[in-house]
Amino acid sequence: MTHTIKVLFRLFILIFYMRTSTSLDSLAVNQSIRDGQTLVSANGIFEIGFFSPGNSKGRYLGMWYKNLTPLTAVWVANRETPVHNNSGVLKLNENGVLVILSGANSNVWSSKISETVFVNNSINAQLLDTGNFVLKNGKDYILWQSFDYPCDTLLPGMKLGWNLVTGLNKIQSSWKSTDDPAKGEYSSGVDLRGYPQVVIMKGSAIKLRVGSWNGRSFTGYPTQPLKEKQIFEFVITDKEVYHRYEVVDRSMICVYRLSLTGNLQALCWTSHSSSRIVIYTDAEDSCDNYAMCGANSICNMDGNVPKCECLKSYVPKFPEQWNISYWSGGCVPKIELVCGNNNTSGFLRYKEMKLPDTSSSLYNKTMNLVECQRVCTKNCSCTGYANMDIRNGGSGCLLWFGDLVDMRVISQWGQDLFIKVPSSELDYISVDVPRSMKKRLVRITVGLITVGFLTCACIIIFIRKVAPRLYRRAPFQKRQVYSRLIKEDMDLPIFDFSILVKATYNFSSTNKLGEGGFGPVYKGTLVDGKEVAIKRHSKVSDQGLEEFKNEVVLIAKLQHRNLVKLLGCCIHREEMLLIYEYMPNKSLDYFIFDETRSKLLGWTHRSHIIAGIARGLLYLHQDSRLRIIHRDLKTSNILLDAHMIPKISDFGLARTFGGDQVEAKTKKMVGTYGYMPPEYAVHGRYSMKSDVFSFGVIILEIISGNKIKGFYDSENSLNLLGYAWRLWIENMPLELLDTHLFEMCISSEVIRSIHVGLLCVQQKPEDRPDMSSVILMLKGEKLLPQPKAPGFYSGKSSLEATSLSSNQMSLTIFEAR
Ligand SMILES: *[C@@H]1O[C@H](CO)[C@@H](O)[C@H](O)[C@H]1NC(C)=O
Ligand SMILES: *[C@@H]1O[C@H](CO)[C@@H](O)[C@H](O)[C@H]1NC(C)=O
Ligand SMILES: *[C@@H]1O[C@H](CO)[C@@H](O)[C@H](O)[C@H]1NC(C)=O
Ligand SMILES: *[C@@H]1O[C@H](CO)[C@@H](O)[C@H](O)[C@H]1NC(C)=O
Ligand SMILES: *[C@@H]1O[C@H](CO)[C@@H](O)[C@H](O)[C@H]1NC(C)=O
Ligand SMILES: *[C@@H]1O[C@H](CO)[C@@H](O)[C@H](O)[C@H]1NC(C)=O
Ligand SMILES: *[C@@H]1O[C@H](CO)[C@@H](O)[C@H](O)[C@H]1NC(C)=O
Ligand SMILES: *[C@@H]1O[C@H](CO)[C@@H](O)[C@H](O)[C@H]1NC(C)=O
Repeated sequence: MTHTIKVLFRLFILIFYMRTSTSLDSLAVNQSIRDGQTLVSANGIFEIGFFSPGNSKGRYLGMWYKNLTPLTAVWVANRETPVHNNSGVLKLNENGVLVILSGANSNVWSSKISETVFVNNSINAQLLDTGNFVLKNGKDYILWQSFDYPCDTLLPGMKLGWNLVTGLNKIQSSWKSTDDPAKGEYSSGVDLRGYPQVVIMKGSAIKLRVGSWNGRSFTGYPTQPLKEKQIFEFVITDKEVYHRYEVVDRSMICVYRLSLTGNLQALCWTSHSSSRIVIYTDAEDSCDNYAMCGANSICNMDGNVPKCECLKSYVPKFPEQWNISYWSGGCVPKIELVCGNNNTSGFLRYKEMKLPDTSSSLYNKTMNLVECQRVCTKNCSCTGYANMDIRNGGSGCLLWFGDLVDMRVISQWGQDLFIKVPSSELDYISVDVPRSMKKRLVRITVGLITVGFLTCACIIIFIRKVAPRLYRRAPFQKRQVYSRLIKEDMDLPIFDFSILVKATYNFSSTNKLGEGGFGPVYKGTLVDGKEVAIKRHSKVSDQGLEEFKNEVVLIAKLQHRNLVKLLGCCIHREEMLLIYEYMPNKSLDYFIFDETRSKLLGWTHRSHIIAGIARGLLYLHQDSRLRIIHRDLKTSNILLDAHMIPKISDFGLARTFGGDQVEAKTKKMVGTYGYMPPEYAVHGRYSMKSDVFSFGVIILEIISGNKIKGFYDSENSLNLLGYAWRLWIENMPLELLDTHLFEMCISSEVIRSIHVGLLCVQQKPEDRPDMSSVILMLKGEKLLPQPKAPGFYSGKSSLEATSLSSNQMSLTIFEAR
């Protein structure tokens, strides 16, 4: 009896403890929370407590979105001073100061307040649903708030910038490492010199100018992709200069994080999903580097290669260096301007520009462009002017004095900039810088694709939950399907099971060649000495009958030198077996990714293999009676016969298209991550061009000897496609080459193949060539257009999204099969 009471009492204590530890959103004077307890905001959005980031053993007081996994700290109090054991306590002490204590150490961290307050019960610290942890005296008077001390993450409503009254500068600063939230190398904040602008600093040097605010966005750093979901503002008053954003559409929440490498990333998630994903990283290009072109010069990413050009009437300061693309010396005026006369100078209009560094500018909100020009004309040291605000036809005046630094061309988001030139140079009214810079668009598309991944992930989860149930029903229908199958394909030989048992020594493990997605594959020798490969569809396989039938029906009808040949099939009880011609050289991946075997495969072999796959694919797409999309082309599905002739295999996922159908859509995305083009991975749309994409990936793998899945250029955060593309635009495509190939290749052929590969992996399916063009291109009988950016070229977005890393992605897709 007493025992029961004891137990009940403990239970009561436990429940009481749990209730108090989870429902608190504020601390009163002398109240505290220990490590293990948390404060949760009123509506359960944010939570504060002790945590250990990454592999760190230190304990930090942090704040995170309560329902978001994995735990994503958006703010850390004691970022420089971890507690080294679980003794940490957050307390609102008797002086009205928030402190973190650890054992005897009473000063791990404290909220700084300059004023001394009369402490009574009206002081409390509360975690708000906005993610602001505020220390208040009474209802409204804020003594301290976490929003004033941002870490690496900007939350909606947080102000980044200056309080001119108190002199407090709110800056965002990166973590040191994923394990260490201490202040890292990079920071982002408002530069008050001239017309205030937002900059990202590396140490004390500017790394990148997000730029000045033009009413719609930061010049040269468009925030467009999330525009409908958020409102951005930049406020300049006597008391404050800050940047802030608010969420309008709560279906998608994003926070902006300054990554370890100084990139601004939007971490977003939808209200239906509790997993975060990096949706938009403003992938910077060379022209984004601060002052990449030196002074008085414009950076242009035309053709994806950075190029610097002097402003009109300016010449390179160091012509020899300039000629070898060493641009940092910048440009100087050709003729010194004579001052004080109306007709000695005029202005050239440059369209679609990221405005120069505004730290050397002056601004006036009320002046219009005409007045702006007049002021600039009169003042000798004025070098250019522009509108401050581009909305409603433009207003305000920005004037630059001295050198113009860090300009670039940005079509669509750039604005007009007027540059002062001597009248002798004034033979134009305006200079229209060529429209290029489609890159920004690409970035956004990449962003959108990542959004698509969310959808993709949802669909996959759906498939995983629902599909197994469908498959479980399958065995009951098997016999029917068998008989129908055999009727449909009378000309396909049926093997007797006993023959196969004999041919494989009762499927002995020594005869096993490997394990496919369907089941094991065995080598067998028929009585006449012919070698065959026998694919045994295991009973437990959830691959489903559809796929089996698909493969049999399809491949039985196909005859091509570059397709693996199906010799027959066999049905034994619940089992299905397929008999293929034997491929002594296994598959392509067995060769090209192996250190020693890859040496055996010289350029001649490789180019023949590429051509062979192309012909096989062309047959599937165009020349066979059916139009077939393979959907799972990859190096392990390219088998090699005794003469190293490639044969496309594994038609389990293939689909036929009727007459003039060119595209289909599926909810069930199957295939292999890395080989799937964006439109398929994201929207489930597949067409011949999806196979072309996979083929392009294979070409690049064959040439580089690198696996699409294993390769990551961390320096530039690029996957294999991005890496190949970068080398291409930097005009050193041969760098991609497998080192074994160096001596013996014909560089023009290799370059052509890389070129074709890059054309095949272009982002948009309509840009990719069809297989008949590919074959002509490989032979050099067709002109090759310049490739555009590949789909999925940045490894970063998928690698940094810890909840959806590329590995997990492929895993889920495999499981979905
Ligand atoms: C807090 O605790 C201190 C010392 O224990 C005490 O002097 C003080 O009155 C307490 N303050 C409040 C508001 O309870
Ligand atoms: C935790 O660390 C603090 C100081 O580092 C020390 O005073 C305290 O005794 C430690 N507590 C435990 C339980 O180890
Ligand atoms: C606490 O002190 C403030 C002034 O610091 C005063 O306005 C308030 O009325 C006091 N509240 C109580 C409950 O004593
Ligand atoms: C730079 O290159 C241009 C043409 O490309 C040439 O006319 C000029 O003389 C070169 N200047 C120097 C200093 O090498
Ligand atoms: C320059 O032009 C303005 C009118 O556009 C005129 O008022 C002014 O006198 C002129 N100054 C000189 C030095 O010509
Ligand atoms: C310069 O201005 C004078 C009047 O101030 C005018 O007569 C002359 O034509 C102008 N020259 C040019 C090149 O515009
Ligand atoms: C802006 O220009 C207007 C008109 O030229 C002038 O009255 C005002 O003083 C200027 N404001 C500042 C801050 O310079
Ligand atoms: C031109 O403008 C600069 C910056 O406002 C000022 O320091 C300088 O005195 C002005 N020069 C003339 C001639 O008005």
